[in-house]
Amino acid sequence: MRDVYKKRLQQYVNMINVRLEQISTYRPSGSESVCEAMAYSLNAGGKRIRPVLALEFCRLCGGDIEKALQSACAIELVHTYSLIHDDLPCMDDDDYRRGRESCHKKFGEDIALLAGDALNSAAFELISSEAECGNISCETGIRLIHMLSSNIGVNGMIGGQVIDLESEGREITLETLNDLQEKKTGALIKAACLMGCVLGGCGTGDNEKLSAAGSYAECLGKAFQIVDDILDVTGTFEELGKPIGSDKQQGKSTFVTALGLEKAQQEAERLTNEALSFLSCFDDTGFLAELTMEMLTRKN
Ligand code: IPE
Ligand code: IPE
Ligand code: MG
Ligand code: MG
Ligand code: MG
Repeated sequence: MRDVYKKRLQQYVNMINVRLEQISTYRPSGSESVCEAMAYSLNAGGKRIRPVLALEFCRLCGGDIEKALQSACAIELVHTYSLIHDDLPCMDDDDYRRGRESCHKKFGEDIALLAGDALNSAAFELISSEAECGNISCETGIRLIHMLSSNIGVNGMIGGQVIDLESEGREITLETLNDLQEKKTGALIKAACLMGCVLGGCGTGDNEKLSAAGSYAECLGKAFQIVDDILDVTGTFEELGKPIGSDKQQGKSTFVTALGLEKAQQEAERLTNEALSFLSCFDDTGFLAELTMEMLTRKN
């Protein structure tokens, strides 16, 4: 089981990395500096968990993962944009990311800001191009774009980042903390899982699968961010590839500050088990179950 899991994960990550490298070769003249910054952050490694989830949900719904690859990679472009902006001095002010200098440290704040913006636009260009060239239907393209855009704006990722910033140095309720985590991290993970289902052929009437994937993703997303908060305290720079103690330095409100390490860990475990409970309407979920568990015990 373990070998099957590792092999499939490696296969997915390789496919994603190769495609992201190809996407990064597009460098129109005059925009070389920003393209270099985009490629620098995009191709710096990263777990690729969001596109992996999209590909796996596509497979679980009976779709062709090759046909889903470009749209899955679009999700990673959005994620990378969010990390570049998250590290800026006006945000979390972090100097390292994915084991190398943050984008703004290497290229300056102006180019880093634009690289993030350009990655965000490129994501939607990639998905709409898939529909333009007939790899996916126009209807699927619109549904994917809607799922992605509605989860990364003010009702999703950006909304979460706002609560995150405005909660610095303050005590917030568990309800607000849940809302923060659900939006800043959960929403993009949810988009990835739902987009995977749509790429796998789920129509608007496939409520059972879409709702199960959404509920799974909500639990996984929260658990994922709690583990990220725990690792900020217990991890090492070498393993994480980003600074530790950043949350404390910025006075962030996290599950660790709210509950303490032990209870935060228990909450992540509870949410992981809850996530797994939503997979029963899919067949052949061994890989996804292992991936879900791995996200709980990860070291980076
Ligand atoms: C880090 O995301 C930021 C969060 C939303 C917690 P990841 O832990 O997925 O970072 P990479 O992509 O592997 O670098
Ligand atoms: C990042 O959360 C969330 C987004 C980028 C949307 P964090 O600020 O906790 O992520 P890290 O710890 O810097 O990776
Ligand atoms: Mg942040
Ligand atoms: Mg940060
Ligand atoms: Mg963090």
